[in-house]
Amino acid sequence: MIIEGRTFVVSGGASDLGRACVRDIVKSGGNAAVLDMNEETGAALAKELGSSIRFFRCDVTDTENIASVVKSTLEWIKETGKPLGGIIPAAGVESPGLMLDKSLNPLSLSSIDFVLSINLRGVLDLVRQFLPALASSPAYGPDGEHGVIIMVASSAAFDGQMGQVSYAASKGAVAAMTLPMARDLSRFGIRVVTIAPSMFDSAMTAMMSDKVRTGLKKAMEFPSRAGQPEEFASLARQAIENVMLNGVVIRLDGATRMPSKL
Ligand SMILES: NC(=O)c1ccc[n+]([C@@H]2O[C@H](COP(=O)([O-])OP(=O)(O)OC[C@H]3O[C@@H](n4cnc5c(N)ncnc54)[C@H](O)[C@@H]3O)[C@@H](O)[C@H]2O)c1
Repeated sequence: MIIEGRTFVVSGGASDLGRACVRDIVKSGGNAAVLDMNEETGAALAKELGSSIRFFRCDVTDTENIASVVKSTLEWIKETGKPLGGIIPAAGVESPGLMLDKSLNPLSLSSIDFVLSINLRGVLDLVRQFLPALASSPAYGPDGEHGVIIMVASSAAFDGQMGQVSYAASKGAVAAMTLPMARDLSRFGIRVVTIAPSMFDSAMTAMMSDKVRTGLKKAMEFPSRAGQPEEFASLARQAIENVMLNGVVIRLDGATRMPSKL
């Protein structure tokens, strides 16, 4: 898929990994519809990137909210004449908690629901609601490609650590649905690629304690540092542009395998 002259929908686009994709898309001549709950960072990004982006306040757990944002995005696309080229559902949250704590309290259902409703249900609902428009977008290139979906899993999909059961469940599901989604959408010329990053510098990982950060660093092979959002965006760009990438989960982790304990 070509970026220039196309519009990409990026949820969680007002912060770190999503925002790096938005900046990269704009740099490559595309437009981005930035969907996020955070109006402050969304407004700051709109100020930075001007008319190439449109910020929409969107809670991906609210299906009516998504429906109205789909409508507004399509109206904006009509105005700009830059058809939909892809969806990057990057909004995600982490809420650490042990399955059973020392006082024998099981993991709360509310924290399980919180993580799954954003990282899994929210991803599916967002993609689902944009799909009719993506499938109807003008075909590009000799393969007649209509668009690409780039989902975000995590190292936790494969080697989740203590306290990551809910997060691993959500990201494991995202990884697992990559191939069947690609199979479902192949007849429409839509590809599906998932990126599974290890630790990347972001607001999410800034909340980690120094102990956790140092422990994770020890688990890294090369390079021995957190990934940068721009490195994530660079792979996302390749996923957009390389038509042979489809139905695959790509680990972006410098050979890091998360240990059981830090
Ligand atoms: N940073 C990492 O180390 C790392 C590693 C693996 C996977 N990931 C995944 O990458 C994605 C992006 O994470 P990030 O590191 O940029 O985190 P981040 O916290 O910087 O950004 C997440 C964004 O999602 C938005 N968001 C949260 N709940 C939402 C909701 N209900 N509706 C709409 N938007 C909502 C937040 O407002 C925020 O802007 C997430 O899916 C995360 O799980 C991150």
